[in-house]
Amino acid sequence: MTHKSAAETVPIDPHLIVLFGATGNLAKRKLFPAIVRLLGRRAFRDRIRILGVARRDHDDESFRLLVSEALAEAGLAGPEIAEWCATCVSYQPLDGDYAALARRVEELEKDHGLRGNRVFYLAVPPLAFTDIVTSITEAGLHDGGGWRRVVVEKPFGEDAASGAALNRTLHATFDEDEIYRIDHYLAKETVQNLLVFRFANPVFELAWNRDRIDWVQISAAETVGIEDRGGYFDSAGMLRDVVQNHLLQLMSLVAMEPPVRFEADEIRDEKVKVLRSIEPVPRRRMVRGQYAAGTVDGEVVASYREEPGVEDDSTTETFAALRVDIDNWRWRGVPFYLRAGKRMSERLTQIVVRFREPPVRLFDGQDPNTAHANLLYITLQPDEGFDVCFDVKTPGEGMHLQTRTLSFRYGDVFGSLPDAYETLLADVLTGDQTLFVRADETEEAWRILAPLLDADTPPEIYEAGTWGPDGSAGLVQDSDGAWKVLSRRTGYSLDTPLGAS
Ligand code: BG6
Repeated sequence: MTHKSAAETVPIDPHLIVLFGATGNLAKRKLFPAIVRLLGRRAFRDRIRILGVARRDHDDESFRLLVSEALAEAGLAGPEIAEWCATCVSYQPLDGDYAALARRVEELEKDHGLRGNRVFYLAVPPLAFTDIVTSITEAGLHDGGGWRRVVVEKPFGEDAASGAALNRTLHATFDEDEIYRIDHYLAKETVQNLLVFRFANPVFELAWNRDRIDWVQISAAETVGIEDRGGYFDSAGMLRDVVQNHLLQLMSLVAMEPPVRFEADEIRDEKVKVLRSIEPVPRRRMVRGQYAAGTVDGEVVASYREEPGVEDDSTTETFAALRVDIDNWRWRGVPFYLRAGKRMSERLTQIVVRFREPPVRLFDGQDPNTAHANLLYITLQPDEGFDVCFDVKTPGEGMHLQTRTLSFRYGDVFGSLPDAYETLLADVLTGDQTLFVRADETEEAWRILAPLLDADTPPEIYEAGTWGPDGSAGLVQDSDGAWKVLSRRTGYSLDTPLGAS
């Protein structure tokens, strides 16, 4: 991130992206559109060549058609794009013959003058990572004479042991500064802005500690179910799919100390320190849930167990909530509550920070039953923005107070925000690791979750279209007894009681 402005103008090195899983959903829905959008920036024009790799039997022509269709679905079509596909996109079917793949890579590099710079993008299920990395190495593909980078998508293993084993496999071939572990949450503009919010605005940072903050809640609520990913999700569950990565990453950005410099390793050093300060979470501080049938956005939806690819008697959680305590100088005694759920009442990713109440209540007109604390809502999606709640005097006689908000919505000022994958790809291609997860972060995150994985008790069932199981309200009893939500659905109004589970 440090050299971002340079990256906009200085052309990057010509290189080849060897895209494993090139016919899959991630490639079609996210990666190709992101690559094409990057071509609009000067630094990337004429620099990117792609070799799609997958088991399916395509040739260059039929693969280009597939790519064009995927791009058209993303609203990207036209003669320039067709021309780009025809000259810059190729395909190699792979049934295990990595020597043939190596020959094809060299051929393309020679034809296009790519100087052996290679990005290996593993857009494949995690079970395939080890095999691909080992085969790349055995075929000598990792050494093209230029620079090399490998990109892997979460989940990084399925527990502490497999997470560490994956890191060993990667490190056997690649140095840590050649490994780009993607957690796409980190590239959301509002998530990056958390650092600016904290470290460019001392007014908040001065109060950002246990003396001034009561608790923090982080929610990632989705209305979608598991879409067509039953096979994967049923063996993963919400703890592995979202909490281990997205939520712990968000939490470490909220809780980290200021880095010495705004550089990848300085920031990651501070994030990992937060993770290292977290004690393993006892089971009683976690609630697991699974959705039953219900109504989401006016549509009747099936229960989790009826989803394709899911076992009839599955006990996998589609909702998880936990209380995490950070045992360090700044945060000791401040609970961080995390929750993530599928088929919830609305789509909302939000961080809520509750500041402590004034030590003395001066005003008679204050409702004794209402907490008069300032709350800060950081909305990461949708309607990205900030809302600060504070008390004002109601005009008229007496000192009657009411709570109002000061609000900022990104969309009102900046319009639409770039997709996370565009940001991530630009960073991979310019060699900026700030938004990527380092090996020690993944291993610490697994350590924290280890006692919670493979719970032997069945999850609490909740109706689809609600805020999750009853037990999750119990978890936040110490924090005003409710999960707080401020959202578009209620017009960002504080007048309606919101978000109680
Ligand atoms: C992915 C999870 O990492 O993040 C999905 O595997 C989840 O299950 C998704 O739906 C949520 O991402 P976003 O950007 O839609 O909030």
